[in-house]
Amino acid sequence: MKKIKIEIDGNVRELQVPDSELLIETLRERFGLLGTKYSCLEGDCGVCTVLVGTKNVLSCLILTADCDGEKITTIEGLATAGQPHPLQRSFIEKGAIQCGFCTPGMILAAKSLLDKQPHPSDVEIARALDGNLCRCTGYVKIIDAVREAAGKIDK
Ligand code: FES
Ligand code: FES
Repeated sequence: MKKIKIEIDGNVRELQVPDSELLIETLRERFGLLGTKYSCLEGDCGVCTVLVGTKNVLSCLILTADCDGEKITTIEGLATAGQPHPLQRSFIEKGAIQCGFCTPGMILAAKSLLDKQPHPSDVEIARALDGNLCRCTGYVKIIDAVREAAGKIDK
């Protein structure tokens, strides 16, 4: 067991975690943050993506014990003051969501990109999202949504 202090979506949490507990387990099972999806649990699909600091990570591959002192952002923490993040708005407006299973991970991977590169090319967007699989949209509308959000965030 390890005692850690982490910030999740702006809330500071102190907890004892088994050395083997995965971040996805902590988020979903301890805190009910079910927007972080799980599927392959092998690092192949990206649906479990969250931000640790500004970096997108696969929460099925990272131990919670190794997140001591970190700030974690899940899809539930992205809206501010009750307003959707521009990426959330653009995904809706551009029709980049169908079943929605990939959407939280896609949006958080896109946020990590835009935090580093506010003016990405379509190639850079595609590259940044290439670890996030979508079975429904064909990706074109997702790239449109990220491009549109980048333009709005910049203004
Ligand atoms: S559930 Fe984590 S990458 Fe698939
Ligand atoms: S919208 Fe269904 S998997 Fe992407």
